[in-house]
Amino acid sequence: MIFERAVRPWLFRLGGGDAEAAHDWTLRRLAVLARQPAALAALRARYLVQAPRTVFGVRFPNPVGLAAGMDKNGLALPAWSALGFGFVEVGTVTAHAQPGNPRPRLFRLPDSAAVVNRMGFNNAGAEALAVRLAALPRPLGVPLGISLGKSKVTPLDEAVEDYLASYRALRSHGDYFAVNVSSPNTPGLRSLQDKEHLDALLAALVGEKPVLVKIAPDLTEPAIAELLEVCLARGAAGVIATNTTLSRDGLAAADRPRGAQAGGLSGRPLAERARAVVSFVHTETGGRLPVVGVGGILDPDDATRMFDAGASLVQLYTGFIYRGPGLTRAVARAAAGVAPPTAATLR
Ligand SMILES: Cc1cc2nc3c(=O)[nH]c(=O)nc-3n(C[C@H](O)[C@H](O)[C@H](O)COP(=O)(O)O)c2cc1C
Repeated sequence: MIFERAVRPWLFRLGGGDAEAAHDWTLRRLAVLARQPAALAALRARYLVQAPRTVFGVRFPNPVGLAAGMDKNGLALPAWSALGFGFVEVGTVTAHAQPGNPRPRLFRLPDSAAVVNRMGFNNAGAEALAVRLAALPRPLGVPLGISLGKSKVTPLDEAVEDYLASYRALRSHGDYFAVNVSSPNTPGLRSLQDKEHLDALLAALVGEKPVLVKIAPDLTEPAIAELLEVCLARGAAGVIATNTTLSRDGLAAADRPRGAQAGGLSGRPLAERARAVVSFVHTETGGRLPVVGVGGILDPDDATRMFDAGASLVQLYTGFIYRGPGLTRAVARAAAGVAPPTAATLR
């Protein structure tokens, strides 16, 4: 509540209301905090909730993760776990450092509890992330996921080599890897969800560490079914559902002008579709592929519905923007009373 009444209004005014200015400021503050053991201990005492579960062979202190894109370069890792996250997914990183799309590229739609972004994988590159992760005091206390994407300069037919270069630089640092083939903001990227492309990608990446595939909510069910066959055949460890959507359904009237901005929509309007995709994946695979449910979790009931749909883990992004760290704690507390979907989904 303090966050929503006092912190959020202040953050939302930063930079003349530029959403990325608020994001950058928060990340800088958290990066400073991440180097202060006393501050971390105080946060931990306030936010940490134990609700352990083991999924794809990895033990999570609680099943509520920070979604990819919030801390692309891994600047504030110890702070996220102190704020109660049971795992953190850094990235998306690419083999080549890249600036992303021109600003402004991040837009808040407050009446809809939503965000539109067209960041375009702005990141310092896989090598820089590897250097930062190597310097971190370990253990981190929570599993670290690393999200990999394709560099913009790399043609689609060289995508496998590009992902592989990032993977090689980072493989010793991640507890799992997410193959991001679903961002709407890199031209052509989503075509890597096709059977042949994904098959080649997974053939190159699956092996040593759990590899999960992050999918778009805009795929049809037959396309998801085909993708799942490839995931199962190639030994993917799970699916992350979902990334942002190109749809603009469900926006409040006041948000429609901003909603017309190009990019992917996240937050409340995505919740129902993301949950439907989670449910489809869980049912279609008979629980054989663990699902990380992400999209529109704004309160603990949203998370409970996501677990009920078959998610073994959940992630937050837009909900954290609107509700702050109290949401992470509330969702983890709810999860503490929620059993995993079925024993079969846990490997
Ligand atoms: C500003 C922004 C940047 C994002 N960047 C990434 C990214 O780099 N990689 C990725 O896999 N997903 C990225 N996402 C998608 C989120 O991880 C998440 O899948 C999506 O926002 C749906 O969850 P939410 O409704 O809780 O935000 C981004 C989302 C936002 C809002």
